[in-house]
Amino acid sequence: MASRLKFRQKLEGTRVLIIGGSSGFGFGVAEGCMEWGVAHLSIASSSEKRVTEAISRLRQSYPDATTEIKGHACDLSNESTIDANIKTLFAAIGTLDHLVFTAGDAPPTRDNSDLDMQFIKNAGMVRFFAPLLVAAYGRESIATRPESSITLTTGVSGERPIPGWPVACSYLAGLHGMTRSLALDLKPIRVNLVSPGAANTEMWDVLDDATRSETMESLARATTTGRVGAVEDIAEAYLYSMRDANLSGAIISTNGGRCASNWYLEIQGKAEIDNYIEGALPELAAKTTFFFMGIVLC
Ligand SMILES: NC(=O)c1ccc[n+]([C@@H]2O[C@H](COP(=O)([O-])OP(=O)(O)OC[C@H]3O[C@@H](n4cnc5c(N)ncnc54)[C@H](OP(=O)(O)O)[C@@H]3O)[C@@H](O)[C@H]2O)c1
Repeated sequence: MASRLKFRQKLEGTRVLIIGGSSGFGFGVAEGCMEWGVAHLSIASSSEKRVTEAISRLRQSYPDATTEIKGHACDLSNESTIDANIKTLFAAIGTLDHLVFTAGDAPPTRDNSDLDMQFIKNAGMVRFFAPLLVAAYGRESIATRPESSITLTTGVSGERPIPGWPVACSYLAGLHGMTRSLALDLKPIRVNLVSPGAANTEMWDVLDDATRSETMESLARATTTGRVGAVEDIAEAYLYSMRDANLSGAIISTNGGRCASNWYLEIQGKAEIDNYIEGALPELAAKTTFFFMGIVLC
């Protein structure tokens, strides 16, 4: 057996900031950081109350952990304060080894017939403009070495769009380009992107119980695993991004196989598949017969 544990030590003694750590994926990553022996963990979100509650939950779940945890309020939704808020956050944090960005507000669900410039701009503030500014104002706080990392968040709808989500899907896909570009500009600091599929996090608290469970069932049908993601599974992608000093400019997709499934047909219902089979297959069979007849005659 190795005298030093080369895998288990990778996050021990490190300093990590999670912007969006008060709930959902960010909170899951915070729990992972406690288990991996991170020395200093900072959590930021728009609400001081939610940050304080998240820190209490972490302390209760890990009473023996030696991780020092600090909380910071930093609202990223307002164009007129976003620059100052991010600068203030980094001034309070000090040096970091890893930065994780999971902050996101309610998904902008308006279809193409109902768009205006203000809506489009507001929809990108937290999920798209904020990570660009975080990288710009935070780069000096991150130790300049390949072990350091920034991990951003997109969503599977950037790879497989949902009908009626043109704004969200555009920003989600744009984050792929942002990540690769930042990986070049910030080298040797690594920059990666996690692309999660659906998970039943606090993001869905806006729905009533019945709609929420219907939505989760329908999203589960769009996967190959038959279920939506668990936070502790999706959090692994962020923890891996931090630990693999060879990973940069990468997109890690963790979506229960949604990209491999006939997800759109699944969501639309079996009737559409039946119509397709009834309509298209006889026509295809007829064409194939003519094709083979043609070969024989030639
Ligand atoms: N859950 C899913 O099914 C799913 C699937 C694919 C992609 N995603 C994306 O993954 C990201 C994280 O999702 P999640 O499920 O973890 O959501 P979540 O549980 O709602 O967490 C979002 C985090 O962002 C913070 N936040 C919200 N508005 C903010 C603001 N104005 N300024 C700063 N922080 C803010 C929240 O804290 P406060 O409210 O305290 O500010 C919270 O910590 C989002 O971008 C989401 O769109 C989610």
